[in-house]
Amino acid sequence: MTLILALESSCDETAAAVVEDGVRIRSNVIASQIETHRQYGGVFPEVASRMHVEAIHAVVASALEVAAVAPADLDAVAVTHGPGLAGSLLVGVNFAKGLAFGWGKPLLGINHLEGHIYSLWLTEHAPLLRFPVLCMVVSGGHTDLVLMRDHCTYQIMGRTLDDAAGEAFDKVGRLLGLPYPGGPAIEKAAAEGSPSAYSFTRSVMSADHPYDFSFSGIKTAVMRAVQPPPTGKRVRGEESIQAGVTLPNINIADVAASFQAAVVGMLVEKTVNAARDSGATAILLSGGVSANRLLRAQMRERSALPVYYPPLVLCTDNAAMIGAAAYYRYQQGQRDDLNLDVRPMLPLE
Ligand SMILES: Nc1ncnc2c1ncn2[C@@H]1O[C@H](COP(=O)(O)OP(=O)(O)OP(=O)(O)O)[C@@H](O)[C@H]1O
Ligand SMILES: [Mg+2]
Repeated sequence: MTLILALESSCDETAAAVVEDGVRIRSNVIASQIETHRQYGGVFPEVASRMHVEAIHAVVASALEVAAVAPADLDAVAVTHGPGLAGSLLVGVNFAKGLAFGWGKPLLGINHLEGHIYSLWLTEHAPLLRFPVLCMVVSGGHTDLVLMRDHCTYQIMGRTLDDAAGEAFDKVGRLLGLPYPGGPAIEKAAAEGSPSAYSFTRSVMSADHPYDFSFSGIKTAVMRAVQPPPTGKRVRGEESIQAGVTLPNINIADVAASFQAAVVGMLVEKTVNAARDSGATAILLSGGVSANRLLRAQMRERSALPVYYPPLVLCTDNAAMIGAAAYYRYQQGQRDDLNLDVRPMLPLE
C-alpha cells in the first residue's frame, strides 16, 4: 500500500489529502477563501497567500487525523508547485518541504493541471479507463485539450488563445452584476432564460489549429449586448449599465443562457472532434467548469465515446487529485529535493 500526503495551494483553496494507491481518498480537506475574495470580485493574490499561511497547518493536521494516518505511515509528501499564483504556491511548497525534511520522506512536486486530469482516477470510472484518452481541462486559468497515451504522458491538441472558459464565465458574471465566481452564478441564472435569445458569435479557428479555442469574442459580444449605445442616446428608457448595477432593460437570465450555450457549444464541438480524430477511447472532463451541467449533458449527447467527469468536490481545486497524480509519478520514480521551486507558468507537456 502506498500512502501519499498531498498539499494544494495554487490559488485560493488551502487543501490537504491522504490518498491510498492513487485511487482511494482517505481524507480530502479543503479550506476555501471564496467568501473573502468575493468582495473583490476575484482572487486578491496577496490576501490569498496570507490566508494560506494561516490555514495550512490546521488543514494538514486535519487531513492526517481524518485519514487516521501518522506521519511515519506515509510513503511520500506531494505538493502542487505550478502553475498558479507564485505567492500562494510558495506556501504549499515550503510547508511540504518542511514536512518531507522533518519526517524523512520523499518529496514530489506535481503539476496542478495533471492533478485536475487525475481527479478522474479517483472516481468509480477509473477501472474503465483505457489509453489513449482525450482530456479536457477546463478551469479558471486553462482550457486545454490533452491527449494522454499513457500515465503522465501528455500531448496538447488544443488550447485557448486568450481567456480560459472559466475566466470568461467570471468576467461575464461580473458584467451582469452576478456574484463571484461567475460560473455557478451564470449557470443558475441561465436556468430561467432562453439560450436562443441572443446569438453570440463563436470564433472559428484556422485549419492549422482546429482544436484551439477563443472566448474573448463571445465576451465582447455580451458586453456590446448589455452596454448602452455609444451615442449616449438612451433606448427603451434605460439607465446606466455597469458591472454590479441593475441592468433595467436586459434580461439577465436570457444573456446568461445564451452566453452559456455559446461557450458550451464551442467546448463540446472541438472536444468531440479532437477525440474522434485522435482515436481516443473516452473523453475525460476536469477542472472547475466541468461542474457545469449543460456542458456535461451536451458532451454526452454529442459524443459517440463515453464521457466521464468527476463529482463536484473534485472538479474545483482539491489536494486529493494531486495525491492521485503523485501516486503515478512516485511509481515512475520521481523524487524531488529541497531545491524544488514554485513554477507559476509550469507547462503540462
Ligand atoms: N457550474 C459551473 N459552470 C461554469 N463554470 C464554473 C462552474 N463552477 C465553477 N466554474 C468555474 O470554474 C473556475 C474555477 O475552477 P478551478 O478551481 O479549477 O480553477 P483555477 O484553479 O482557478 O484555475 P486553474 O486550474 O486553471 O489553475 C471558475 O472560473 C468558475 O467560474
Ligand atoms: Mg484548478
